[in-house]
Amino acid sequence: MNKISKDIFKNYFNKDPSNSSYAPGRVNLMGDHTDYNNGLVLPSPLSLGISLSILPSNNYKIDGISQQYGSLSRNLSNEIDGSWLDFVSGAIEVFYTHFPKNDCLLKKGIKIAVASNLPTDSGVSSSAAFSVALIKVISELENQHINPMKLAIMAQKIEHDFIGTKCGLMDQMVSSAGVKSKAMFYDVYKNYIENYPLLPGHDFLIFHSGSKRKLSESLYNKRRSECEKASFLMSVPDLRGANKELLKLLDKKLLLRASHVISENERVKNSCTALLEENADMFGEIMYDSHYSLSGNYEVSSIELDNLVKVAKDSGALGARLTGAGFGGCCVLLATRDNSEKIAEKIKKNIPNAWLVDIIN
Ligand code: GLA
Repeated sequence: MNKISKDIFKNYFNKDPSNSSYAPGRVNLMGDHTDYNNGLVLPSPLSLGISLSILPSNNYKIDGISQQYGSLSRNLSNEIDGSWLDFVSGAIEVFYTHFPKNDCLLKKGIKIAVASNLPTDSGVSSSAAFSVALIKVISELENQHINPMKLAIMAQKIEHDFIGTKCGLMDQMVSSAGVKSKAMFYDVYKNYIENYPLLPGHDFLIFHSGSKRKLSESLYNKRRSECEKASFLMSVPDLRGANKELLKLLDKKLLLRASHVISENERVKNSCTALLEENADMFGEIMYDSHYSLSGNYEVSSIELDNLVKVAKDSGALGARLTGAGFGGCCVLLATRDNSEKIAEKIKKNIPNAWLVDIIN
């Protein structure tokens, strides 16, 4: 993948880049909308991702070429403008704020080429992969070692301060610290990570529902503030500290939101047990429960995602759920390896707009 961004760089700028980096997207197998509540998540890196190649320059500009979005250029000092260059400005700012240097190699300008095979607005963390790859490549250029957890926190800051999504830390953490073909159990409150094997003889299929995420930033931030309000009313610091007893203090809507988070944390624990016991039926059942809670209680599903889960179930998938923030994008399905191709075919036949994004096993 790095070769592709290097080639794009050379073709466009007629020069070799000085540094390249790669970061993967992710699928979340269990535990959505729990990370910003200090809860539990179980993501895994995808085989798809983003690669960058860069070279410091002297024209006080960001000159960029992206495989997906074409070329863009603006002055380094310009305000953010909603384009993908905002991630680049954000990364430079975040990096040099953390590591102030007298001679910042990128403070006089940067040339950058971006190659990606991750679909955007689809719930597979293309923006986290981009942010992680950016911090990685700048740290390599500046010979600054950063451990994967710190790197994830810096990447998250780009999204909070420059993109406007008050995301949790799951996506950046798995993109930076995750291990291929492992499920990464991450306890946000304890800042604790443990890798679990996936289910032998089974595939996790990442299927796009055919509709992109809509209004996701504003609705995502709204859910986050609903959780904060629920915590306040229950007098707990966050929903990790809540329990079912306290739910009676909430009105109907906040009760639904908090019930999702409390039960989803339990589902993450139970799905780790299912992985350890190699119990795919159990894992699959938990996936369906999680989807119904995300759809009914947390209200972050869509007609297309609900339909995909239904068709997956009717086609013989052991489990299926939306993955990531929701509001459109992808589902993850669990199937025995023998059956996964047949299930994928049935889904494509029933939902012509749906497509297989990746398989992990
Ligand atoms: C997005 C955010 C994550 C997480 C998920 C939902 O992917 O970036 O931090 O909150 O939504 O689980």
